[in-house]
Amino acid sequence: DMLTKGFPKDFLWGGATAANQFEGGWNEGGKGISTTDMCLAGSRTIPKRLAKEIKEGVYYPSHNGIDFYHRYKEDIALFAEMGFKSFRMSIAWTRIYPTGEESEPNEEGLKFYDDVFDELQKYGIEPIVTISHYEYPYHLVEKFSCWKSREMIDYYMKFTETIFRRYKNKVKYWLTLNEINTVALATSGYIGAGILNGDEDEVMDMKVDPETLYQALHYMLVASAKAVTLGHEINPDFKIGSMEAYLTYYPYNCNPDDVLLAQKKDREVNLIAGDVQIRGSYPGFAYRFFEEKGYDIKMEEEDFEILKKGTVDFISISYYFSATMSTQEGLGEASGNMIVEGNVNPYLETSEWGWQSDPKGLRWTLNHIWDRYQIPIMVVENGLGATDKLEADGSVHDDYRIKYIRDHVIQMKEAIRDGVNLIAYTPWGCIDLISGSTGEMDKRYGFIYVDLDNQGNGSFDRYKKDSFYWYKKVIASNGEDL
Ligand code: BG6
Repeated sequence: DMLTKGFPKDFLWGGATAANQFEGGWNEGGKGISTTDMCLAGSRTIPKRLAKEIKEGVYYPSHNGIDFYHRYKEDIALFAEMGFKSFRMSIAWTRIYPTGEESEPNEEGLKFYDDVFDELQKYGIEPIVTISHYEYPYHLVEKFSCWKSREMIDYYMKFTETIFRRYKNKVKYWLTLNEINTVALATSGYIGAGILNGDEDEVMDMKVDPETLYQALHYMLVASAKAVTLGHEINPDFKIGSMEAYLTYYPYNCNPDDVLLAQKKDREVNLIAGDVQIRGSYPGFAYRFFEEKGYDIKMEEEDFEILKKGTVDFISISYYFSATMSTQEGLGEASGNMIVEGNVNPYLETSEWGWQSDPKGLRWTLNHIWDRYQIPIMVVENGLGATDKLEADGSVHDDYRIKYIRDHVIQMKEAIRDGVNLIAYTPWGCIDLISGSTGEMDKRYGFIYVDLDNQGNGSFDRYKKDSFYWYKKVIASNGEDL
């Protein structure tokens, strides 16, 4: 019987986090200063900002995060209570190499992740580890603007080799670089690639020109491919995946120009990185795109061989919304801090932060990816950022979040029935954490509420939201009881 009815038996249900948004302990255990440690909180309308120096009395959200560094046992016990089969996390580069330049790794940092992996193992939770999630040693920013320089590849490889060897028998699933393709979006030059644009203001502008960004993307793709090859040498059982923010673009209407524009966007933002990581070479449209834009992307002869050799074992994506593309002027712009350009889609609901939820778009996207690449897929980020209210009795009634996740689970099941080989689902911020784009605490995604506000005040106590009990039921029934 070739017909797939629902989620496979060994489906990896879980949740996702990133070190820089939840660990805290920013200067403990020998940790160095990371790119995120320099960031100030933004707000619903202001993206998070970059400070020139760290000052007393100023709130930097990553410094305490939600204090996973000290509370990991309690948090992992809560994940286990929900029935997690997997847990996505990242390793803070600066815990292992505080400035990036040391020749020996920091043992205390390595030990911390040993403890975390051992704790997960106790409950049979499979770690899915992002090698680098929007975080680099700040020292390397000052030295050569991280991925602006080819040298960064060697620093990344040193870090990667250290953690591959150390956790060889504890971690099987690895993601090379978080949302690698978002580097191409001007707004994430600093966050995604650690590039400074030379601005000397107290609060620095994080925008970087696109040619520099596509060059950075190339270096990152080379580094990712090298990591895949090395990882397979160290442990042939490693499964090493790509990680892309899947930004799904629809044509605004049936005007063929809109259809072509949406396709072009999909290629320039998503497929360009995906094709290199999965197929091992740049697609034709990439060269045309570079040429038409006048970008001179420097590639060494050896790069082509490296890319060809280091193709990934699986694909992982984040998926939050879809966007529409139109050649017509005067349509409503997508609002809030929606990180992609596009027009408002009148058929979709919009979150408090202006993100347009589109569960069916996830089914479309998974089919789109599967049809192109035919290798296993993980959805390693998805969720609804919303304001929650902690009630006096410690409950949080987040029916809006349950609805969002339920609708996406339904569509993932549809995709599986369409024949897509989906192997994992780890919703973003399974425990409330600091927002990546705004640095706020108020933009919550979790099944677990953390008592902490936008200024960094609170008890850090954890509370189970209604979605906690709901998700537990979903996992227990393998996606049947929704
Ligand atoms: C992804 C990032 O882009 O989206 C995460 O990988 C981020 O780091 C997540 O937190 C959600 O975005 P935000 O801005 O709502 O936190």
